[in-house]
Amino acid sequence: MGTELASVRDWVGGIFEKLKIKLAAECARNQHTIPYIPENGRYTDLEKSDGIFWWTNGFWPGMLWQMYNATKDELYRKTAEAVEIRLDAALESFEGLHHDVGFMWLHTSVANYRLTGNKDSRRRALHAANILAGRYNPAGKYIIAWNGDRPGWIIIDCLMNIPLLYWATREINDPRFQMIGMEHAYTAIDRLLRPDGSCNHIAILSPQTGDCLETPGGQGFASGSSWSRGQSWALYGFALSYRHTGERKFLDAAKRIAHYVIANFAQNDWLPLVDFRSPPEPVIYDSTAAMISACGLLEIAGHAGEFEKNLYGDAAVKILTTAEKTFADWNTETDGIIGKGTAAYHGKPHDTEVPIIYGDYFFTEAVLRLLEKEFLIW
Ligand code: GLY
Repeated sequence: MGTELASVRDWVGGIFEKLKIKLAAECARNQHTIPYIPENGRYTDLEKSDGIFWWTNGFWPGMLWQMYNATKDELYRKTAEAVEIRLDAALESFEGLHHDVGFMWLHTSVANYRLTGNKDSRRRALHAANILAGRYNPAGKYIIAWNGDRPGWIIIDCLMNIPLLYWATREINDPRFQMIGMEHAYTAIDRLLRPDGSCNHIAILSPQTGDCLETPGGQGFASGSSWSRGQSWALYGFALSYRHTGERKFLDAAKRIAHYVIANFAQNDWLPLVDFRSPPEPVIYDSTAAMISACGLLEIAGHAGEFEKNLYGDAAVKILTTAEKTFADWNTETDGIIGKGTAAYHGKPHDTEVPIIYGDYFFTEAVLRLLEKEFLIW
């Protein structure tokens, strides 16, 4: 066991107790809410997001399913199930949905089905998997991102959605879903991952040939920069593709990104800049990149050999503990735990350096991973 991992045991036990207290208060206040970003310290219902189709709508129930699994407290289960039922409106009206159906139904329906065997949840999740598979372009071998007139767009974030396809393949014993997920991941290696371990957020491909036409900056500073949440999606996403498929190329890709990410965190006192290649001023943080990176590094540590697992595990602990010490709000009167999350480098004041629901989700998952109380939601 590495130095950081060995010394984190007491810390993580204390954090788990604080999580239970804070989340009990948040559940009591947010029985009928799908939270995203608190306003004046309180979550609002879908008002800051794009309504019922918003890509983050699964993270609050996902966090609650993680806590339900760890504690068996029924309050978490009931609150999570209420959101899952509300999301039926999105499945039914369909047109606002895009590649992020994985984020939305892995954390609600797949989680529910895995933990309780709920057959309605299984049906919802298979429906979502079919929507995701339907976005596949066989000429370019990729899953199209977003909607509108963008038939050649792929984004690094989508790697986190394809575990829904891996789940569907196992669930109905049909290899098509996993084949689509793997082809998309191979294309992401070719088109989004750079040789130095950094990655593009977006690549615009020819929908006829799959040739790369352009790589815009997306939610990062600019084309060629290094949006830190994008790096963390890549790190964790490739590691998960390795877990589900055993394809060594995916683990090698995850490790290449991990080494680049660790170097950049170390260079910045283990604090998460929103873009690793942006001007020195203004300093803008994105704590969500720290939390996702920590989960990804812990995932890689689980697949690493005896002599290297501490490299990933210790870095995860450094990133997690530094972010918690610097950004956490444990006041039970306010919603949101981990502050200074940022949606995009060129974002708006309401989504820059604020608590964001997915930062809290990945923080919870990382803490439960360290306690060996997590369950695989991906
Ligand atoms: N999936 C969108 C984001 O990371 O902001």
